[in-house]
Amino acid sequence: MENNLILYYSRKGENYWNGEIRNLEKGNTRIAAEFIRNAVGGDLFEIETVREYPADYHACADLAKRELHDDVRPVLKNYLDNIDEYENIFVCGPCWWGTFPMAVFSQLERLDFTGKKVMALMTNEGSGLGFCEKDLRKACKRAVFGNALAVHGAETADSESLIAEWAKSEV
Ligand SMILES: Cc1cc2nc3c(=O)[nH]c(=O)nc-3n(C[C@H](O)[C@H](O)[C@H](O)COP(=O)(O)O)c2cc1C
Repeated sequence: MENNLILYYSRKGENYWNGEIRNLEKGNTRIAAEFIRNAVGGDLFEIETVREYPADYHACADLAKRELHDDVRPVLKNYLDNIDEYENIFVCGPCWWGTFPMAVFSQLERLDFTGKKVMALMTNEGSGLGFCEKDLRKACKRAVFGNALAVHGAETADSESLIAEWAKSEV
């Protein structure tokens, strides 16, 4: 039970929601990450940037696009340096222009994934998993990969059984 780690990035504030802009008090991916923990146990680790992203959706989208283009690694508030005690690592984040926010890679690239099982969960508004699996394979060298799960962001709160079944089948 305790050998599961759930790494996640999630941003509250304005977001795209079934074709309109909504203010989210709790990010979709955070809700999903908590469902994983409820289902299989383990530790949650939130990836947080020192520089906050704008709450305004369009300003955030512009900044995220520039960061992806420039392949930046935003500085994080805290880094996890060691995952020796874990066997299964869930990497959870929103789809930002087809992949995880760059901050997720700021964290992943510091870790030794040798022999770990890695599963991606991506919340999104239509792009599904985008190209996150390809990027995850680059960032988590020598890991073994489980099945990834795409969750429609606007439906995350109603997707506990979907997420729980998937998580249980992967550990
Ligand atoms: C900067 C930014 C870029 C986004 N890009 C995409 C995208 O390329 N494809 C997509 O389906 N959804 C995109 N979305 C929508 C988010 O992936 C979706 O709302 C997600 O569930 C948000 O998760 P969070 O609340 O945990 O941050 C984007 C949202 C933001 C803020």
